[in-house]
Amino acid sequence: MKKKLSMLIMFSAMLFLAACGGGAADGEEVYTLQAGHSLPDDHPYHLALLEMKENVEERTDGRVIIEVFPFSEIGAERELTEGMTLGTVDLVVSSTAPVTNFVPELAVLDAPFLFNDRESAVEVLEGEIGDELFAALDEQGIIGLSWAENGYRHITNSTHPIEKPEDLKGVKIRTQENEIHLAAFEKLGAQPTPMAWTEALTALQQGVVDAQENPAIVADQYSLFESNQNYMTLTGHVYSVAIYMMSKQTYEKLPEDLREIVVEEGERIGAIERDMIVEMEQDSIEILKEQGMEIIEDIDVAPFQDAVRPVYDMVEHQELLNRILDAQQ
Ligand code: PAF
Repeated sequence: MKKKLSMLIMFSAMLFLAACGGGAADGEEVYTLQAGHSLPDDHPYHLALLEMKENVEERTDGRVIIEVFPFSEIGAERELTEGMTLGTVDLVVSSTAPVTNFVPELAVLDAPFLFNDRESAVEVLEGEIGDELFAALDEQGIIGLSWAENGYRHITNSTHPIEKPEDLKGVKIRTQENEIHLAAFEKLGAQPTPMAWTEALTALQQGVVDAQENPAIVADQYSLFESNQNYMTLTGHVYSVAIYMMSKQTYEKLPEDLREIVVEEGERIGAIERDMIVEMEQDSIEILKEQGMEIIEDIDVAPFQDAVRPVYDMVEHQELLNRILDAQQ
């Protein structure tokens, strides 16, 4: 009887530990980190975070638990960034465009048609320039863990195929909350309205805007063809850089051995995420076609590049911009 009772107590204790996230030895503090982003739970942003979660929880024996929140559940990108500076959000993956509102140096990455190709972008970001940008993030209380991406941004709209800049004349387009994006679409003759992604879908559905610009994977995962988006032009006008980030306050509250593991795992996932995007991008374009969207693939981007070139003068950190351009000569 006594043996049965002690087995029962042991079993209940094991269940309790499993419910607490498992692993952490009795009396050891368990740190629960909240990770947020704006995309669905089958987007590479999320899938890579799940990989980080699994590895961190395993390597820390359950002393660090990561809860991952997709769909802007704990805030849209701008709010999430602010949350990290205040220490109310622990981990975030976000495209860089809204982060520039807190870290102006990052705006250099918003210059349209900045990178020759993906490889050049990764080389710049994972080199000295990327390190300097991470140092600028650090000054605002955010630790840059690794560079990720959301793919190349393309224009979708409800009314007609866009083949040249003139086709954008008067088109009401939702842009990210970013001055350079806004100015670039003004130069193209469109009527841009910046708003968070959380508001964009309703705006498209209600015809408040006719158009938006995002990578194919976002158009696919958000079924934009059901939000009046009948055309997609593969302008690839911005290589949408994203970053896995951590609040410095979170870093500081973690004991040294645990913070090292979290940082190491965060550093790994950027490259993993980028590979997933490359793999999924073409499939998304095929899905959009199957769903009846007209994809305008063979366009001459030169007139688009010429039209937006003046916004390069708006970039505050000109020296940084020139170094990025020179690095790709
Ligand atoms: O357009 C945006 O706001 C961003 O590209 C999105 C969809 C939130 C992903 O980072």
